Amino acid sequence: MPADRTATHGVATAVAHPNIALCKYWGKRDAALNLPSTPSLSLTLAPFRTETTVVWGAERDRVVFNGVENTGGEGRKIFATLDRFGERPPCEIHTGNDFPTAAGLASSASGFAALVVAANAASGANLSDVELAVLARQGSGSATRSLQGGWVEWAMGERDDGLDSHGVAIAPADHWDVRMLVVLVRSGPKEIGSTEGMNHTMRTSPYYPAWVEHAPKDVVEAREAVLARDLEKLGAITERSALRMHASMIAADPAVMYWKPETMRALEVVRTARKSGIGVWATMDAGPNVKALCSAADAATMAALFAEASLSAQVLHPGGAARVVTTAPWRETAR
Ligand code: DP6
Repeated sequence: MPADRTATHGVATAVAHPNIALCKYWGKRDAALNLPSTPSLSLTLAPFRTETTVVWGAERDRVVFNGVENTGGEGRKIFATLDRFGERPPCEIHTGNDFPTAAGLASSASGFAALVVAANAASGANLSDVELAVLARQGSGSATRSLQGGWVEWAMGERDDGLDSHGVAIAPADHWDVRMLVVLVRSGPKEIGSTEGMNHTMRTSPYYPAWVEHAPKDVVEAREAVLARDLEKLGAITERSALRMHASMIAADPAVMYWKPETMRALEVVRTARKSGIGVWATMDAGPNVKALCSAADAATMAALFAEASLSAQVLHPGGAARVVTTAPWRETAR
């Protein structure tokens, strides 16, 4: 490198939590901008987290994922996201999750949220929360809901450029102390990624238009239930949103079927507990794992009921916003 060459250089590390949608996002009205066909509503969940370090100004573009250099497709999406910050030097990304990746546990949500927050600090770009939420959405739709903590709504938006389609907090993490139990049925990567699964559902499922028609009303009612802390109302919407989303994919041709025998067993535990008077409702994403929403007071009982059915559950609680944890100040480096 010539002696008088000036390079930009900065390093920052950010943390983000995954989110689980109570009203699901499944389908896109614009694939290029990653705009959804429906609004969605989620809860950001701790202690699961992604931690990502961005070295803005490295030898070459490189992603190290949980200690192993990544040479696959995820790398391309990561650098496409960094390209949206504007002209940039080569960058090195070190990222890791403390929970199973690509298993329908929203690792792409926390991953792209942590990425844009770390890149913003490392590059000195100084983008606003909304600008970051739009960039996260373009990386992976659900990521736009992991920038904020607590209860988050992602509006479909009306603009063609998508600038009004991003996650917005409707209530903070401490608004309502509920629990989400994650029943891990399989920890390996899912057979069909969510992008592919939803595109296939859109193209081939006769139930997809019905899904799109009914989803917006669920989000309006779920928002009211969150603000009123009405668990019975929110739980019913949560379970039906997940089951309707899965019905739309099971009706695709060929079917997108994430369910395993243990999935049914976990759903049965939830339904039986509910019949016995416990306020608990299930949701599922693009994978066989089941998540159960209940009050903080019922979480230990539910974990014990899953254990009795030979299923192990981890208990998550409302988590905070994506945030920078360490940063070396951005500077112009004269070499
Ligand atoms: C079932 O956000 O992973 O978890 O935007 O194509 O990256 P892309 O999809 P992604 O889809 C998440 C789907 C879901 C439901 C949800 O989180 O709302």
